[in-house]
Amino acid sequence: MAGLVRPHGGGALRPLLLEGASLAAERARARALRALRVSSREKGDLIMLGIGGFTPLEGFMTHADWQGVCDGYRTASGLFWPIPITLSTDKDTAATFKTGNDVALIDAETGELLATMKVTEKYAINKAHECATVFRTTDPAHPGVKMVMAQGDVNLAGPVKVLGDGGFKGAYGALFMTPAETRAQFERLGWSRVAAFQTRNPMHRSHEYLAKVAIETCDGVLVHSLLGALKPGDIPAEVRTRAIAVLIESYFRPGTVVQAGYPLDMRYAGPREALLHALFRQNYGCSHQIVGRDHAGVGSYYGPFDAHRIFDEFAHDALETQPLKMDVTFWCYRCGGMASGRTCAHEDKDRLQVSGTQLRKWLSEGAQVPPEFSRPEVLEILRQYYASLDAGGKSEVNHAAGSAR
Ligand code: ADX
Repeated sequence: MAGLVRPHGGGALRPLLLEGASLAAERARARALRALRVSSREKGDLIMLGIGGFTPLEGFMTHADWQGVCDGYRTASGLFWPIPITLSTDKDTAATFKTGNDVALIDAETGELLATMKVTEKYAINKAHECATVFRTTDPAHPGVKMVMAQGDVNLAGPVKVLGDGGFKGAYGALFMTPAETRAQFERLGWSRVAAFQTRNPMHRSHEYLAKVAIETCDGVLVHSLLGALKPGDIPAEVRTRAIAVLIESYFRPGTVVQAGYPLDMRYAGPREALLHALFRQNYGCSHQIVGRDHAGVGSYYGPFDAHRIFDEFAHDALETQPLKMDVTFWCYRCGGMASGRTCAHEDKDRLQVSGTQLRKWLSEGAQVPPEFSRPEVLEILRQYYASLDAGGKSEVNHAAGSAR
């Protein structure tokens, strides 16, 4: 039987989370270290490093890594990597840390001790250059650009020792699987050809169709939800993952899907993020990455299939995990079923396309949503969610649906 793809870099998985006696000793040692508060994005990256999802990285990137990744998709050692994984702080705080010293990394929101890091380098970056190369724009309205421009002016590099899971296991239980766990699960199921379905949304029928097309030619699909932070207005992970569980339970054959989640924040880097998705899915044991329309995009910053093209332009042979490129998918009334831009012979007017704003309006008004767009079991969970928001008096929710955002 063919085995699973190898982790990125060709070696073993490299989880940086300490265990047992070394974990207890490092936790005790961390109490005496100067503390640095890390952002939500940095926390997600740390937890990913901890569970081995960013194998073979050893910590936050140096200036040479940062430059190489921005300009040529490679770290200083030549490792393929599409998005900088960096830690930053403000100038005054950076001045209190000496190169060569260890620092304790603390969750800025909860105060939880997450990791320790040996600071090997302090450096400034040209943030606009990072934005122009990674996000293809310096528009401050782009949520990824906003995040980079708001981060501190000094980056700190160095190897990390991770000391926990940042609360993800407690919050998501069995859904929070490490790469070693998904690999073990695939092996138990006898899978080697595994497609990852990336999502930050509940799954509507266009998403369901993409996963099912993959199942036609793969052993199974990993439905892999982002569990970290999204932009304001996107649907919380707890609601999305519940809606996905109901869909899988009701509409997929048992033994064809593994549902799990990963700890990163969304960067909205479109094509570059699609490459990062394929890279870390290789660590999770997936041989393929489904890449549909405007993968990891936001607004109209990227062309609908830029994330297809980038695999040929910049990732040729760099990853074992290969893209499963799929055209736009929708219900077509004349086809009488789900179809895609590649298979449907009909016109726009025959195709059901629902914008995020329209879906939100329907759901919050209790109006009928076409069952051709989304399964009733999924809609019910979303309806309850929007009703709870309205009851709480919360304002505008900008739901990103399958057909528009
Ligand atoms: S993403 O940011 O995680 O990419 P989303 O959860 O909406 O957003 O999309 C998950 C996956 O489904 C991505 O590969 C995306 O390209 C694809 N996708 C979403 N909607 C469609 C659609 N209508 N047609 C084709 N692909 C789609």
